[in-house]
Amino acid sequence: MKKTSKMPAVNGKISIAPSILSADLFALGQDVQTVEKAGADWLHIDIMDGHFVPNLSFGPSVVKSLNGRTALALDTHLMVEHPFPFVEPFAAAGADLLTVHLEAKDDIKQTLAKIKSLGVKTGISIKPDTDPQALLPFLDELDLILVMSVYPGFGGQSFLPQSPAQLTAVRTLIKNSGRKIWLEVDGGINAQTAATAAKAGADALVAGNAIFNAADPATALNQIRQAASGI
Ligand code: DX5
Ligand code: ZN
Repeated sequence: MKKTSKMPAVNGKISIAPSILSADLFALGQDVQTVEKAGADWLHIDIMDGHFVPNLSFGPSVVKSLNGRTALALDTHLMVEHPFPFVEPFAAAGADLLTVHLEAKDDIKQTLAKIKSLGVKTGISIKPDTDPQALLPFLDELDLILVMSVYPGFGGQSFLPQSPAQLTAVRTLIKNSGRKIWLEVDGGINAQTAATAAKAGADALVAGNAIFNAADPATALNQIRQAASGI
């Protein structure tokens, strides 16, 4: 069944996407409700296969459990070596956006076409050492570009110093394409680095540790939004 994605088009506002990698899985439902109430825009779901990154996380069943239980768009980040065979299961589970890595081993154009055919928004992510120019052949097919500001695999790492330059380069590519594409940043985002990332061109910010491990997640989320919006 083809779904209607809840992921909005670029709207000139900052979107905040809490990453459930840092949520308390014993209380996942409560944690999701907390960030939804606090004004989160999307929910970021990290999928890891133990090959593309040295860690394991969730599968389609987690997306399925969230689908219909939250109004937040399900922003699904596939850190897997072979995303193609997982497109259909994640789309069926209710993903609103499927982001695959440019460095993955499947045919990226074919994978994006498959995502689109299922009514899901398309994203490509690049790792910190990937040349942003490598995104050029795919710009026409994209709803979102995700710049990793840490080496992917784990929550709670520090924002890398090279990330602002990579974000600026991707922002220029998007501008020159004339297309409306979200520029999302993921890794080490907190109230300080949010301002840096937004200044460099990011308009969607993922944050795991800084929100879910804060004493007050709602306050932490709002501080990130204010830091990113007040530039
Ligand atoms: C890392 C994941 C991130 C992670 C971010 O590989 O892609 O989404 O959850 O976590 P923080 O915000 O803790 O760096
Ligand atoms: Zn992620």
